[in-house]
Amino acid sequence: MDSLINQQLGQFRIVERIGVGGMAMVYKAYQPTLDRHVAIKILPASQSQDPVFVKRFVQEARSVAKLAHPNIVQIHDFGTDPNNNVTYIVMEYVDGGTLKDRLNGPMLATEAVDFIIQAAEGLDCAHRNGIIHRDVKPANMLLRKGNHLLLSDFGIAKILEESTSLTRVGTGIGTPQYMAPEQGMGQPVDRRSDIYSLGIVLFHCLCGSVPFAAENPLTVTVKHINEPLPVGRLTSAGVPDPLIQVLLKMSAKQAGDRYQSAEEVVAALTSALSAANLSMPRAYRAGISPASQFGEGNRGPSGQLQGRGAPTPAVSSSLLQSSHPGYPGYPQQGMSQAGGIACFRCGSLNPTTRRFCTSCGDELANSRASKDTYTINGRPILARMTVKTGLLDGRSYRFHQDVSTVGRTNGNDLILADQSVSRRHARLWFTDGYWYLENLSSSNGTLVNNVRIFQSVVLNDGDVINFGDEVVVFNIVYGP
Ligand SMILES: Nc1ncnc2c1ncn2[C@@H]1O[C@H](COP(=O)(O)OP(=O)(O)O)[C@@H](O)[C@H]1O
Ligand SMILES: [Mg+2]
Repeated sequence: MDSLINQQLGQFRIVERIGVGGMAMVYKAYQPTLDRHVAIKILPASQSQDPVFVKRFVQEARSVAKLAHPNIVQIHDFGTDPNNNVTYIVMEYVDGGTLKDRLNGPMLATEAVDFIIQAAEGLDCAHRNGIIHRDVKPANMLLRKGNHLLLSDFGIAKILEESTSLTRVGTGIGTPQYMAPEQGMGQPVDRRSDIYSLGIVLFHCLCGSVPFAAENPLTVTVKHINEPLPVGRLTSAGVPDPLIQVLLKMSAKQAGDRYQSAEEVVAALTSALSAANLSMPRAYRAGISPASQFGEGNRGPSGQLQGRGAPTPAVSSSLLQSSHPGYPGYPQQGMSQAGGIACFRCGSLNPTTRRFCTSCGDELANSRASKDTYTINGRPILARMTVKTGLLDGRSYRFHQDVSTVGRTNGNDLILADQSVSRRHARLWFTDGYWYLENLSSSNGTLVNNVRIFQSVVLNDGDVINFGDEVVVFNIVYGP
């Protein structure tokens, strides 16, 4: 495989090998068009000629690539290259190592919980989009500076499982050390299997080693199925009791006895820390405030956030309804119990424990509100885009008087995951009372009222914009 170094894979030049996993190799590569480094995961060669495998791979990779969340590694591209006989996934390159590298001994409880909450937030986004990770483990938690955690390898285990004969007890693709009993037994998995694995990662962080170890993987799996969690090790490590209780529920043997959503895990961990008189390293997660603090539930951030300089956004109830249709079949109690922060951009309610909005990924501290200096009758002029096509059909997003970008990948303010949209497609900004739109060398162009734009144009209320095949209606709205 090292013969790949310095080789070209599509538009990427392979630079060096950065890791070897159970079933794949990961390389650092350079993409000259965007002058950036990426990570390329190369899957086992044998299947890239098999049309059934390739079809399944493309289906799964496509749905995973649509996930856009600050705690999920963004997938940029994927494909099969019959010339090199490889199947590959191109993703964001994260340079801070993995959580596995940090697990040389027990961590502080606050540090461990911070990592696990970030992972749970990423998982929650994936689960709401119908994607189960299936291989939650420290090696799949990549780190950036500031201990920012990004989950990688969503669904890869599924792609590999479906295409190999390895799915037998103890020899599945997931990692037995962190694998839920049902997964170890080859039974169907759901989001609660990810929650179990996350509980085991938490145990590992708090104690410095995994709860169930053995020479061979099958024995590890059998222990997960039969042996109780070694709670004594948590108590001797000085882990506060409220946290032990949460861990026990996360890693219950029966899926029905666990937390039923990652959202609930975030809430329980936050409460456990405050019950243990510990505070989170991140100020905005200082505990769940009672719902009553937020009035009707669509008011704005807690006093704690206002204290950080962000004004309270008032979100009209119609915007809330139109922009947050809810997720069928997904328990919402975590949100209503916690009251919450209304996301400035999309209006979704998020628990106060969140840093980024689960629906649109916007920063809930809303620091960009300071840009809203141009006002009419004391109210700032804002922009709203309502998506009329694709995955986000019917959702509305608001923008501050700042420079915002529209594109297909993470890092844009409005992410339209459609293939016809370029990575950085267009730019929206506000100057002297007007909203402007500019196309950013996109492949399929930007149209305003069916006319392709080649330089920046002033937008008017009601303009219809095409970003590739995606259609968006622009409106001028007024802030609080
Ligand atoms: N996007 C990425 N950016 C940087 N390093 C990565 C990335 N993805 C994976 N790696 C590195 O490559 C290693 C191997 O990854 P992988 O094949 O997924 O196996 P595993 O997850 O079992 O370690 C990881 O442990 C990590 O160190
Ligand atoms: Mg991995």
